[in-house]
Amino acid sequence: MSSTPPVLLNTGLQMPLLGLGTYKLVGPEEVYGAVDAALGAGYRSFDSAAVYRNEADLGRALKELLPKHGLTREDVFITSKLGPKDQGKKAMEGALRSLSQLDLGYIDLYLIHWPGTQGLDVADQRNPGHRSQSWATLEELHAQGKLKAIGVSNYTAAHMRELMQSCKVPPAVLQVEFHPKLCQTELRKVCEEYGVCFQAYSSLGKGELVTDPVVLEVAKNCERTTGQVLLRWAVQQGVPVLPKSSNPERIKDNARLFDFTLSDTDMDRLSDQMSSPASSIPPVLLNTGLQMPLLGLGTYKLVVLEDVCRAVDAALGAGYRAFDSAAVYRNEAELGRALKELLPKHGLTREDVFITSKLGSSHQGEKAMEGALQSLSLLDLGYIDLYLIHWPGTEGLHVADQRNPVHRSQSWATLEELHAQGKLKAIGVSNYTAAHMRELMQSCKVPPAVLQAEFHPKFCQTELRKVCEEYGVCFQAYSSLGKGNLVADPVVLEVAKNCERTTGQIRVNSLHLIVLESQPGWQPIPQTVWKSQVYVPSIRPAMLSNSSLILRSCRPYFFAAHKAGGADLDRTLNGAPSVGVPASSAKSSSSLETVEAWDSEFSRSRPVPKKTKAGPKVSTARHAER
Ligand SMILES: NC(=O)c1ccc[n+]([C@@H]2O[C@H](COP(=O)([O-])OP(=O)(O)OC[C@H]3O[C@@H](n4cnc5c(N)ncnc54)[C@H](OP(=O)(O)O)[C@@H]3O)[C@@H](O)[C@H]2O)c1
Repeated sequence: MSSTPPVLLNTGLQMPLLGLGTYKLVGPEEVYGAVDAALGAGYRSFDSAAVYRNEADLGRALKELLPKHGLTREDVFITSKLGPKDQGKKAMEGALRSLSQLDLGYIDLYLIHWPGTQGLDVADQRNPGHRSQSWATLEELHAQGKLKAIGVSNYTAAHMRELMQSCKVPPAVLQVEFHPKLCQTELRKVCEEYGVCFQAYSSLGKGELVTDPVVLEVAKNCERTTGQVLLRWAVQQGVPVLPKSSNPERIKDNARLFDFTLSDTDMDRLSDQMSSPASSIPPVLLNTGLQMPLLGLGTYKLVVLEDVCRAVDAALGAGYRAFDSAAVYRNEAELGRALKELLPKHGLTREDVFITSKLGSSHQGEKAMEGALQSLSLLDLGYIDLYLIHWPGTEGLHVADQRNPVHRSQSWATLEELHAQGKLKAIGVSNYTAAHMRELMQSCKVPPAVLQAEFHPKFCQTELRKVCEEYGVCFQAYSSLGKGNLVADPVVLEVAKNCERTTGQIRVNSLHLIVLESQPGWQPIPQTVWKSQVYVPSIRPAMLSNSSLILRSCRPYFFAAHKAGGADLDRTLNGAPSVGVPASSAKSSSSLETVEAWDSEFSRSRPVPKKTKAGPKVSTARHAER
């Protein structure tokens, strides 16, 4: 059996395009069996790591099996990785341990497994220092000939740039997750720019992608297995792959990649139909020139870091690029950490997402600077895309208190100052009445970019929307589903039934999506991302975790650029008997009474400041173990 074609690394070394992944191959017997089958099927490359705890078994299996297959040490290419617990000053100890465990004289390619250090938060300022110490160690061992090539894994574009600026030896390889659902466009460009070989892991989506309908269709067309189609999709682009299997038949099957070609149409189908639907959410243009996605994820009541991470992960996968937080939601830090952790996984950067937060009413007035800086520091994302005054009043003051207008104006001046410094890209207000809007427009230097207010068919905000139109302010909706109550409204049910047009799987949670979709310019936000419950025609749910209900606790909201066309539905629903819609929503807009009613409801529903359990660290180890 001939070996697989190679790619040329920037060190001059050749690395086979196909290697056997060994994550989860455990115990001497399983490793031996897989290596035997792989060598027989033509594999000449094996990917291990300190955290896989199989370096010794792999080394032993190779020493025994190479002669059986008429091969020598020089015929195979061995990769291993420095564990995140050894990042930094323990790097030498970690790398020497890998060399000793494998016991093959040298390692062909040694990678820093993860940019972080085990036990440190991703944002910890010690991480860059640790990365650079590890890299210097790898350079030293490379110079000694113990590591023939050195590289990195799970680095973002920013990490790559940081490394390129300081390294003496440039990385030969960047190994990251890569398959048709995660095309890593930016990272691939960065690798091309720096002459670094881009290598794929999890090409089969950890086995989940082999049953994807698009892959099945392509496989049927070209009479190949789905595994081969997924792997061919990568190698045809010159990207080396590392499929893992413990099954000799699959190991053999996955190696048959170099005797067929996928047509351009099939390549495009896989890339286009399966990739993350980022671009399918249209933006609305703000008066600052910024573009804000029409669809965003509300985060009210998402408090625990683990929940925030799960929701953000699923949302990014489903195409969301906007996230709405607030000081009073007490989740700014969690949202920031989740994004920092998860953006790279989705091939995205900070600039790809739009983050909104809000100044709490306890910081209204002269404490506004403190409040806004606190939001900036908790989110820790460099800047906030949109920052709103959450509420026109000040905590503890009656709505009619004469100090309120002064406080509002002080808060606005602060927001203007931070906007001028580039820390708040756009500024706006929330829960303002038409009168508040007029007051603000008369005194502001920078006009508000956005007014965020409750908006749904039972609360059409006609006057406020007119005011926004008059002033060129984007009217943004929250509580579009009437806090969940509207989905059971008989009129909504009726309309949903009428316009049913796809499957018969209409569930309570998807009813509102159909209704909202029927109104031009409206963008629905799913309350859950159960694969079966998400029905957003323009947004294909990406590879969502099928574990359980992911966004159960998310507060959905949507941005509305409401155009003419939904008026009939508006009228019908406004006239329809209220079905458990909160009192504030059932009232007409813009009266002080409404404001007060909402205020008291707001105070009631404000999350009780509870001690969140330390929350799962956005752990580096968790990722390295993948
Ligand atoms: N650098 C990193 O941080 C990192 C992260 C993840 C992975 N990796 C490397 O990349 C390798 C591959 O990634 P991965 O293990 O995450 O996942 P993967 O290769 O995408 O998928 C492996 C899974 O798919 C199944 N499978 C294999 N061939 C199949 C086929 N032809 N049809 C159906 N199912 C098939 C395997 O089950 P059976 O074993 O039962 O066949 C296994 O459950 C890892 O083993 C590791 O070496 C590196």
